[in-house]
Amino acid sequence: MPEADKDGERYSLDQPQQTPGFYLKGTHQLDWGMKNRMARVFSPASGRTVMLAVDHGYFQGPTSGLERIDLSIVPLLPSCDALFCTRGILRSVIPAECQKPMVLRASGGPSILREELSDEQIAMDMDDAVRLNAAGVGIQVFIGGEHETRSVHNMTKLVDAGLRAGVPVMGITAVGKAMVRNAKYFRLACRIIAELGAQYVKTYYVDEGFETVTASCPVPIVMAGGKKLPELDALTMAYNAVQQGASGVDMGRNIFQSEAPQAMIAAVGAVVHKNMKPKEAFDLFNTLKAKSESVAKMSFRGAAE
Ligand code: R5P
Repeated sequence: MPEADKDGERYSLDQPQQTPGFYLKGTHQLDWGMKNRMARVFSPASGRTVMLAVDHGYFQGPTSGLERIDLSIVPLLPSCDALFCTRGILRSVIPAECQKPMVLRASGGPSILREELSDEQIAMDMDDAVRLNAAGVGIQVFIGGEHETRSVHNMTKLVDAGLRAGVPVMGITAVGKAMVRNAKYFRLACRIIAELGAQYVKTYYVDEGFETVTASCPVPIVMAGGKKLPELDALTMAYNAVQQGASGVDMGRNIFQSEAPQAMIAAVGAVVHKNMKPKEAFDLFNTLKAKSESVAKMSFRGAAE
């Protein structure tokens, strides 16, 4: 048995991991193509990213806010740093003229109709990711889940294919219903994913000890948004995550289910790239929301006249 983990000890939070010659944690020794794709997703200016996650349809179908990606998400593209979507949506809906980097969902299997969601397989070839000019691929890893070993092997196979092609893999900590969402669990899951080769990790925020999750993960972490929260709470969570070492966010519902998605993604961007405080970002959200409402009223009047 491995020795018991001593919670919270020896993370040396005051000594950031060194990354000589490149701005992203754990990325400085990768090959040129890999680095270039990472630099398309993570801003070289801030070292961070606002990824917009809209891949939910791969197991949930047309979930709230994603019924019509052409109408709800395409207008948001200029405001994100990268889009996380499926290849089906990319080919059918996202304009090929779009210059934003695309990170593609590469796992799938069970739908929300099944109890056990960990029964996933790799669901796209790396060749297709390259053909689609993807900046990366993302895959679910179910640490502690029923199909843990298979999901880990799905990821390692994808990492091997990604290394051959120069395409980074984002490993996603998929948390089963039975798992406790705390720092101890996420330290374990993120570290396993990084040790087994993912170039970055997507995980959830926890109120206590998130800085130990980022400190003990040798590659960049992006924060998943999770279920819809009031806007100020979501902005506070994003702020805390980046202040505690996350290299950005990969948020979905808290942006596209907001009553003002355009204003929300701008506010998230200010938090992530400019370290804007949550209250100030919430004021920005409200100002932009009010402006978009008055523009909508004016164009409605114009159409009626
Ligand atoms: C993760 O596996 C999902 O497919 C989403 O990409 C992820 O949950 C992020 O979206 P949200 O912010 O809505 O949780």
